[in-house]
Order: sequence, then C-alpha cells, then structure tokens
Amino acid sequence: MSRTVYLNGEYLPEDEAKVSVFDRGFVMADAVYEVTSVLGGKILEFEGHMARLARSMAELEMVCDLTRDDWLAIHREMVARNDLDEGLIYLQVTRGNAGDRDFHYPPEGTPPTIVLFTQAKPGLADDPKAKKGIKVISIPDLRWSRRDIKTVQLLYPSMAKMAAEKAGKDDAWFVEDGFVTEGSSNNVYIVKDGRIITRQLSTDILHGITRASLLKYAESAQMVIEERPFTIAEAQAADEAFYTSASAFVMPVVEVDGAAIGTGKVGPVATRLREIYLDESRKSAI
Ligand code: PDD
Repeated sequence: MSRTVYLNGEYLPEDEAKVSVFDRGFVMADAVYEVTSVLGGKILEFEGHMARLARSMAELEMVCDLTRDDWLAIHREMVARNDLDEGLIYLQVTRGNAGDRDFHYPPEGTPPTIVLFTQAKPGLADDPKAKKGIKVISIPDLRWSRRDIKTVQLLYPSMAKMAAEKAGKDDAWFVEDGFVTEGSSNNVYIVKDGRIITRQLSTDILHGITRASLLKYAESAQMVIEERPFTIAEAQAADEAFYTSASAFVMPVVEVDGAAIGTGKVGPVATRLREIYLDESRKSAI
C-alpha cells in the first residue's frame, strides 16, 4: 500500500512527492529531523520532539513558520491518512531549495523544505529483542562535535551499524577520549550496584527525548541516577546496560565487545524501566 507523505503543505502519494536536486538537504545535508513514535494511534513525547526540533533549527539559523499546533495537526493527519496504529513518524526540515549548489546559505526568505512520512511497525512496543537483549561493539566516535543538533548527517552512524552487522552484533557504541558518548542512534546507560549511570548532557551527545523522560520517571521511582561518562571496561563490569530512543524505548544491552554484561541476560532494572517508560508515555500520548 502506498503511503501518504507530507511535502510543503500537501499530502501526496509517496511516489508523487518530489524534492529539487538543489535542495540543501540533498547536496549539503543541511537539514534537521525528528523521529516520533506512535502507539495505539497516539503520538508519544510530542512536546519534547517539537521543542528539540525548534532548538536544532535555532542553532542552525533555520527558519520555519509552522507553530506547535500546525505541527500537531500535520502529525495527526499523517497518523489518520496512513492508518498508523504502531510505528514512527519521520519529520525532516531542510534549508530549502537554493536553486544551485552553493556553500553559502540561500537568501533570507527561501522557504524550508518540510517532509513527513510514516513507518508502520506493528509490534513495536512488544519487540522480542527487549526480552533477549542486544549485543554491541565499540567504535571510535568520528562524528562532528555538535551532536546535540539533530542533523541528517547520518553517514557515520550508518557505517557504525554496518560494522556491527559485519561483526554479527546489533549496534555500536561510540567512544571518544576513552569514554562512551552514545549509541549509533540512541543514548546509553549502565547499571552498577543499583545506580543508573549515563553521560551528562553536552554538545557531545544528542539530548534524547526518551532519555529526559526516562530519567524523570526513574527519579520518581526513587532510583539513583549518576550523570557522568563511563568507559567500555566499566560497562563490561556493570550489572546491566541499556539504551533509549524514540524507536526502541528502553532496550537492554547484554554484551559489549564480546564480554557479557552481568549475567548476560536482560536484568531487572532495564525490564522495569521499559515497563515504566511504556506505561507513562502511553498515558501522556496525544
Ligand atoms: N535516533 N542519540 C542519537 C545519536 C540518536 O540518533 C538518537 C535518536 C538518540 C535518542 O534520542 P530520542 O530519545 O530523542 O529518540 C540519541 C532516532 C530514533 C533515529 O535516528 O532514528
């Protein structure tokens, strides 16, 4: 079944939506994006994703006139037109069609290109991987140093996922100056003696929307959180590990670079946090 996508104010069949070859997103990766999940036809973490989108655009001096209510109406229309029950909404805003290839930004007033599409993922909340846990490799973090801006420059994360796949594993964790920054498309955590340890926010990592909510829920559940960097050796000696993202919620990690974490099985803290996160975010979905 052909999806209905959103392009610059229009809802179109996916094969009729066309973007210029001169679009800044295409020739310069000059674009930001968000991925928002949908469960039971409702949008999770909408306010968080919209706040981060606005921040990413502001950091890059990108301008877009759509209000929060406009965005919500578009998201809801995408859910309705695609009959989306469980899955993802991908949103991208580029600096628009510059009319030619040029390193300079296009003139003020050039409209941004706005694209949304849906990805149906039946069973997203019930992913069997969450019961088994996933295995990761570590890889040097060779990305640019403004990882707090959610740009579409995803070649290196793609290379990292391919390296993991070649090694027969599920994902990669980035390491810089001896410390883990984040996963290829997620924020990472270890659990040691009941404490949840995760790197503090800075320009080194994406400020995950799932991360922010999860830490809030963990705190309400009287769990102890330590925001600081950790090493691969520390992860290998931890009791548990997991990652968070909009597309996977809370995902247990049971092996890093060939070493089992804790028992090598999914642990109680990750299991509980996944339950709490799914319960709470379903409750606040709109
Ligand atoms: N990735 N870190 C990176 C590098 C990411 O790409 C992501 C999200 C996260 C988690 O952020 P959030 O909790 O807001 O989803 C952290 C999305 C899901 C993606 O690119 O598909």
